[in-house]
Amino acid sequence: MSLGADRSYKMKLRDVENAFKYRRIPYPKRSVELIALLAISCTFFLFMHTNKLNSRLKEMEVKLQPSEFSALGLTSNHVSGHDAGKHDDINTLHGTYQYLKSTGQLRRVRPIYLNNTRFAGLEVIVFNRPTRVCTEQMMPLLRQLSTMNDMNVVLNGPVRTMNRTRTEKQQETEIAWTTELESGTLYIAHSNWLDFKSFGYKKPIYLSMVRDPIDRVVHDYYKRHSRTKRQIYRRMFPGQRERPEEWYLQSFNQCVRNGSPECQFIQHSVTDYVEDFKRQSLFFCGNHLNCLPFNSPHAVQEAKSRVEKEYSVVGTWEEKNITLTVLEKYVPRFFNHARFLYKLHSNSIRNRNRNNRKPRVDPDVREMVRRNFTNEYEFYYFCKQRLYKQYLALQLEDNLR
Ligand SMILES: *[C@@H]1O[C@H](CO)[C@@H](O)[C@H](O)[C@H]1NC(C)=O
Ligand SMILES: *[C@@H]1O[C@H](CO)[C@@H](O)[C@H](O)[C@H]1NC(C)=O
Ligand SMILES: *[C@@H]1O[C@H](CO)[C@@H](O)[C@H](O)[C@H]1NC(C)=O
Ligand SMILES: *[C@@H]1O[C@H](CO)[C@@H](O)[C@H](O)[C@H]1NC(C)=O
Repeated sequence: MSLGADRSYKMKLRDVENAFKYRRIPYPKRSVELIALLAISCTFFLFMHTNKLNSRLKEMEVKLQPSEFSALGLTSNHVSGHDAGKHDDINTLHGTYQYLKSTGQLRRVRPIYLNNTRFAGLEVIVFNRPTRVCTEQMMPLLRQLSTMNDMNVVLNGPVRTMNRTRTEKQQETEIAWTTELESGTLYIAHSNWLDFKSFGYKKPIYLSMVRDPIDRVVHDYYKRHSRTKRQIYRRMFPGQRERPEEWYLQSFNQCVRNGSPECQFIQHSVTDYVEDFKRQSLFFCGNHLNCLPFNSPHAVQEAKSRVEKEYSVVGTWEEKNITLTVLEKYVPRFFNHARFLYKLHSNSIRNRNRNNRKPRVDPDVREMVRRNFTNEYEFYYFCKQRLYKQYLALQLEDNLR
């Protein structure tokens, strides 16, 4: 992302935070759009209605609930990108479809078994997105949805800490505060999953996003080495010895090949050479110290179980259409019309990221790093498979054969 765009985006975010912290984010209404929206809404309503009746009928026929630790209903980790056949990668929509079909599970994939929104006791969303999963790209859409669906977007919570986990007291503060939010609020949290139930509170609707673990790490690497970061570092640690210029100039490829300490992804490590975000599963595992060891099977199993039992949707911006569809259908109170709005405004959304250049990571370097992220990949694929399953359950596509 270019510096200018980054800065102006941050300024905009800050404006929004300051001016409308607890209020609706305004969006100028345009009458032409409104008429178009109304027309679409009517069509949509009829479509949804037919669809709902249809799926309800089908739900009645089904009694079994397929659900284990793998999102595809397997009890272990047999289904991973590496093991899957080259032609039909299980971690694609089509691969998931083929897998479910060939194992006879397809008929048992129904929204009712995959819909955790039903268990929420609050009409409040906690969207605890991990760092570096491109959620910034969703902000314009959320702003539009806030007008469309009458929701508030809240960006700042009561707990400010750089710690990776919250203390008990901080957890309770944040939970109590969330419970007080106005009905119809989407709160973008910067915390790991919080156990509302164990503190005696009603559950909110939990949402999040994931991204390819190495893409996240690489994105973070280049952020850390950017000029802005250098300025921040100087401000934060004045007088401290600066890192040499080479540190900032080193590419990710060189960093891994040279075995530089910040590009060593040591199994089960808890402390890091530089503060980073390599533990995507941590955001889902929670605030227990057991969640911290890097790439640990325990943290990842916990995280999977949370996603399966607690999260309404864990999407990925790598699959915008599918994520928006699943959000729309499983959390309609907040995300109704999301795809339509996204399409309508995708030009302005795209323009913002036009300068996003993807840093090149050599295949052998990616492979080297990947070997140390086995469980993190397991978790990421789990989330994607579940997303595809939720999508397939909607039976929107007749052309998947
Ligand atoms: C950060 O975490 C450590 C260890 O869990 C704790 O001792 C410390 O008080 C925390 N700091 C803040 C500001 O919460
Ligand atoms: C991978 O993990 C092993 C064991 O923790 C470690 O020795 C190695 O340096 C790591 N490699 C990379 C590229 O992180
Ligand atoms: C997303 O959906 C739109 C509209 O249905 C379609 O034009 C577009 O090709 C889809 N994009 C992807 C990546 O599937
Ligand atoms: C999921 O549950 C929510 C809340 O009960 C409901 O509004 C939504 O329509 C359901 N979605 C699906 C696909 O069943």
